[in-house]
Amino acid sequence: MLEISFSAETLPQGGALALLVPEGAEAPALFKSLDDATGGTLSRAVKADEFTGKAGSSTVVLAPGAGFDRVVLIGVGRAEAFEPKDAEKAGGIAATALGRGEKAALAVGSLPHAAHVALGAVLGAYHFSLYHGAPEDDKTHRLASLTVLAADAAQAEAAWPALSAVARGVILTRDLVTEPANVLNPVEFAERVSTLRSLGLDVEVLDQPAMEKLGFGALLGVAQGSDAEPRTVIMRWNGGEKDDAPLAFIGKGVTFDSGGISIKPAAGMEEMKWDMAGAATVTGLMAALAGRKAKVNAVGVIGLVENMVSGNAQRPGDVVRSASGQTIEVLNTDAEGRLVLADILWYARERFAPKLMVDLATLTGAIIISLGHEYAGLFSNNDNLAGGLAQAGEITGDKLWRMPMGKEYDALLKSDIADMKNIGGRPGGAITAAQFLKRFVGETPWAHLDIAGTAWSSKPRNGQPKGATGFGVRLLDTFVRTQHEKA
Ligand code: BES
Ligand code: MN
Ligand code: ZN
Repeated sequence: MLEISFSAETLPQGGALALLVPEGAEAPALFKSLDDATGGTLSRAVKADEFTGKAGSSTVVLAPGAGFDRVVLIGVGRAEAFEPKDAEKAGGIAATALGRGEKAALAVGSLPHAAHVALGAVLGAYHFSLYHGAPEDDKTHRLASLTVLAADAAQAEAAWPALSAVARGVILTRDLVTEPANVLNPVEFAERVSTLRSLGLDVEVLDQPAMEKLGFGALLGVAQGSDAEPRTVIMRWNGGEKDDAPLAFIGKGVTFDSGGISIKPAAGMEEMKWDMAGAATVTGLMAALAGRKAKVNAVGVIGLVENMVSGNAQRPGDVVRSASGQTIEVLNTDAEGRLVLADILWYARERFAPKLMVDLATLTGAIIISLGHEYAGLFSNNDNLAGGLAQAGEITGDKLWRMPMGKEYDALLKSDIADMKNIGGRPGGAITAAQFLKRFVGETPWAHLDIAGTAWSSKPRNGQPKGATGFGVRLLDTFVRTQHEKA
């Protein structure tokens, strides 16, 4: 992770510098002094590039003089409207534009939220290099440390430990999501979660016999076609009052989704290595909560399976019995995520009697058709919870859009032979998937986040690299902090 330090110094000494520039305001003092020191090079570059400080814009000035290799001007829009999420975006753009120099500084000036600028920079500099040749080389050629220059450096420094715990959570999620499925199978995933005990998390791993005993027939039916054994992992963080019911976070962890016997087409199937993003998000969130010692009781439950094709794979038409006792006719083996979630949602509710449950899942292609890659789908049986999550989404930029639910959709799950079937047809496919989940949560306030469109990005976005986004970690961390922790 990019190493961050804060300083109230006003004049960096050469190297690479990124400078945040608001729109429609006087240029920052540092801009003026650097412009003077370089004989007006910066103001000439600004003019030539028609740089006005518009949010998301940037101008790179190479070798402007005064000992600088590059000065990057980052537009942040109107200073009055500069929110933490804008700070993170600017930080990400800056980290990318700073290049790979030895010595780099990022000047925030008198703008607020310098710690969020740092968070954006750390995440913007993210790169998964485990499987590139000569990894040592790769590391030395990347930005390793960054000094954030801010008028209010003391405040940023005080805010940083908690935010850097969140950054580590997002990075953990991205690493897990990016790992290929031959490395990160359910057993390996559970091993990685187990290492989080060092953060003070309580981690419990259920193996196949344990899940058989609990009657996880829906989850185990998905897993039976794979040579990799399934796991359910329970993470607990007890930072709240002793007898407070926990918040529960539940994740779909299909380490590879071939579709099973209802096999997917070849084109794009490699993307299904990230069908465990829900579980990875829950893991990153729990690491963040533990890392910043959140004053809350939280439990994370993730269901880890691989959905494969084999002589022992589940067949279309099979009927399985879920832990809740409800039976399911599996008409399409590619609608497997809901089968995994059915058992662990029920289990989380029965075992922990949580205050609320939020599940995250790359559940349906239909949600991508509905909302594209901008918003994740939000489904809930509780208006309060839905409102709280949507609000955290607006604050963090991990945006949620509430989708409808209702008995008319639920009726589409009627089966001739079992309590329900696992598909409701193509129309409203993300909604019928949510209706299916709802049958396993009882009266517990519950929300389902369908992150199939937001967990992975095929291009760089908002100052962040392409690939795994870590969507949901900042969202749920902020949800917990602003709505469920005592100040
Ligand atoms: N993991 C997929 C959903 C998905 C699709 C995630 C694209 C990310 C990108 C899920 O298991 C699935 O296959 N869903 C089916 C359900 C259908 C068979 C009812 C789908 O969406 O096509
Ligand atoms: Mn599937
Ligand atoms: Zn899937």
